[in-house]
Amino acid sequence: MTDYDGYYDTHDGAPAEAAGRPDGEHGMTRRQLMRHAGWFGGAVVLTVAGGEVISHIADPRGSTAEAATGTAAAGSGALRFVQVSDSHIGFQGPANMDVAGSFTEAVDQVNSLGFRPDFVMHSGDLTHLSTAGQFDQVKHMMSGLKTDRVFTVPGEHDSIGDAGRAYRRTFGTGTLGDGWYSFDTHGVHFIALVNTLSLEKLGHLGDDQIGFVRKDLAGLSSDTPVVVFSHIPLFAMYPKWGWSTDDALKVIALLRRFSSVTCLNGHVHQLFTKTEGNITFHSATTTAYPLPRPGRAPAPTPQVVPARQLKDALGIRSVGYRQGDRELAVKDQRLA
Ligand SMILES: [Fe+2]
Ligand SMILES: [Fe+2]
Repeated sequence: MTDYDGYYDTHDGAPAEAAGRPDGEHGMTRRQLMRHAGWFGGAVVLTVAGGEVISHIADPRGSTAEAATGTAAAGSGALRFVQVSDSHIGFQGPANMDVAGSFTEAVDQVNSLGFRPDFVMHSGDLTHLSTAGQFDQVKHMMSGLKTDRVFTVPGEHDSIGDAGRAYRRTFGTGTLGDGWYSFDTHGVHFIALVNTLSLEKLGHLGDDQIGFVRKDLAGLSSDTPVVVFSHIPLFAMYPKWGWSTDDALKVIALLRRFSSVTCLNGHVHQLFTKTEGNITFHSATTTAYPLPRPGRAPAPTPQVVPARQLKDALGIRSVGYRQGDRELAVKDQRLA
């Protein structure tokens, strides 16, 4: 089970001591903290303020500067974006009696970050049941985000019964194929993939989409940082529960020549980080309800936890990048 060393203990819904794990600062073990720190690359100083781990990256030009996700980067020209995930608007159940309220809190938290993100990515399961009303509601809620652009990728809950047609009517403008696309900003190349189209094709990209990625990457220099969004992880987090993408290795092979690749996914409703060579994978948490850790329950069903633990399990992620840095800086925050 070494694949799961990267879990943040605060996000699994169980007290760390009860699970027999050392409880480090804010529930992260020291080893996990260091692994998180290692993500920033270069010389990194971590400080803890207000319950969060804040990173400072040693500026290659000599002076220590706030990481792009820090509070002092305004006006620095850094890229800063936010990932939210798995809002499941329309879900009703004891695991969270008010998912709309939780998502509203997440939107408010994004708007209170102290900087205006260049964009916000919702990495899927926007809705719970793909109804027109749920799509309208989540779109309306995201219109309250103080950002220039909102991007999405579909989750399997956004593709129920219609292979994603209602999703694409709401969010698919300007996308290719079944809803995939790419864009560039601040020297970073972004690709948004679809691996949730139908229950028969869950965790599958397909040759058309892989062909798109091949062409899309062909003209890029290998030192371009690449960020790939998908709902279901592109790594084998837990295939038994469908937490993997069966043909992802074909895309991974295309990404191998790049010096910095970051894959950001949702779907698993918990934080997890894993590095394989040049590629780092970050599973995001949810704004709706926790799911069990892999293999710790008979099935990945919504977990009912005490109210305080629910708060600890939900969150948002901010990501920063300054041109010239080798890696992106990822910061996960619980819902306040
Ligand atoms: Fe989900
Ligand atoms: Fe999902």
